[in-house]
Amino acid sequence: MTGGAGFIGSNFVRFWLARHASDEVVNYDLLTYAGDRWSLADVEQNVGDRYRFEQGDIADASSVRRELEAHRPDVIVNFAAESHNSRAVLDPAAFARTNVLGTQVLLHEAKRAGVGRFHHISTCEVYGDLPLESSEAFTEASPYRPRTPYNASKAAADLVVRAFHETFGFPVTISNCSNNYGPFQFPEKVIPLFTTNALEDRPLPLYRQSQHRREWLHVDDHCRAIEAILERGRIGETYNVGSGDERSVEQIADAVLAELGKPRELKTYVEDRPGHDRRYLLDHSKITTELGWRPETPFAEGLASTVAWYVANRAWWAPKKRSIPDETAWVAPSITAAS
Ligand SMILES: NC(=O)c1ccc[n+]([C@@H]2O[C@H](COP(=O)([O-])OP(=O)(O)OC[C@H]3O[C@@H](n4cnc5c(N)ncnc54)[C@H](O)[C@@H]3O)[C@@H](O)[C@H]2O)c1
Repeated sequence: MTGGAGFIGSNFVRFWLARHASDEVVNYDLLTYAGDRWSLADVEQNVGDRYRFEQGDIADASSVRRELEAHRPDVIVNFAAESHNSRAVLDPAAFARTNVLGTQVLLHEAKRAGVGRFHHISTCEVYGDLPLESSEAFTEASPYRPRTPYNASKAAADLVVRAFHETFGFPVTISNCSNNYGPFQFPEKVIPLFTTNALEDRPLPLYRQSQHRREWLHVDDHCRAIEAILERGRIGETYNVGSGDERSVEQIADAVLAELGKPRELKTYVEDRPGHDRRYLLDHSKITTELGWRPETPFAEGLASTVAWYVANRAWWAPKKRSIPDETAWVAPSITAAS
């Protein structure tokens, strides 16, 4: 697995090892600001030789080749990415490098090493956005219309993955997932940002267009979806993974404040990020019909347990708060020099 020291990857490593007792996992991760090896400290202590951490860059061909030769994996799941839209506005080149070039390098080396299966983790954001009042939902056949540098880099990576299947017959699958939430998410993302700011009695920054909505899926449901695709998915196929549960940013802020018993006055309104998408909604009927997967965690339950995790794990998130980008950086005149 690549990117297993990040939010979804670390949840997936723990999930997979608990459910697949004879499997071994190698976690290949560059440890950027978003990666924390100690998110898996319990796994390092408890599963012995079944888990290995290797630090490296998916865009570094010789490093990838060395690790593939050393470990000979049957399957690669590619979580590694630059993942934060706000950072992509300030430094788009980093996103093209890791998300596009890195995926290309990984595919090339995986094919060369004869890896039997490559699953690529992608996002609903490749499809572009929807009007707030639309009844449309994106299917796997919807055209790619990315609007931000992050979305564009993920869309480009998906196309490279598909090309390796069409051109070389390489055994790939792709999942495009909606917004995830849960434990171990870097506190720059909206639910942990709001939760940790509220815990510190600091303002919660909402973009002025605070009615913009996202479809929320608990990370455990995402892990089960990836497992279903790895076990039963058809090679060459893409699967949308969503919950159908949409919430506006305003509703998220209110729910977090209510959960923590903090005042609504902590909400503050800041300029929208350029290119901020209005809304995404996925039609996930394909994975439900074909693979029998469906979301299981109700939002209220998942949010309560996530907020409780941040309350109990201040030592994990407090140092990370120092490297959160300023959500108003794009209104400053120095925007072009900000990277
Ligand atoms: N978080 C979401 O809501 C969401 C939704 C849909 C899809 N996704 C996708 O899921 C994947 C994981 O997202 P996340 O939220 O866990 O991200 P994250 O930012 O928390 O973690 C990314 C991980 O990748 C590692 N990494 C970055 N560049 C690397 C490189 N060049 N080589 C090796 N490792 C590198 C980082 O160190 C980090 O551990 C991404 O591909 C993202 O696009 C995320």
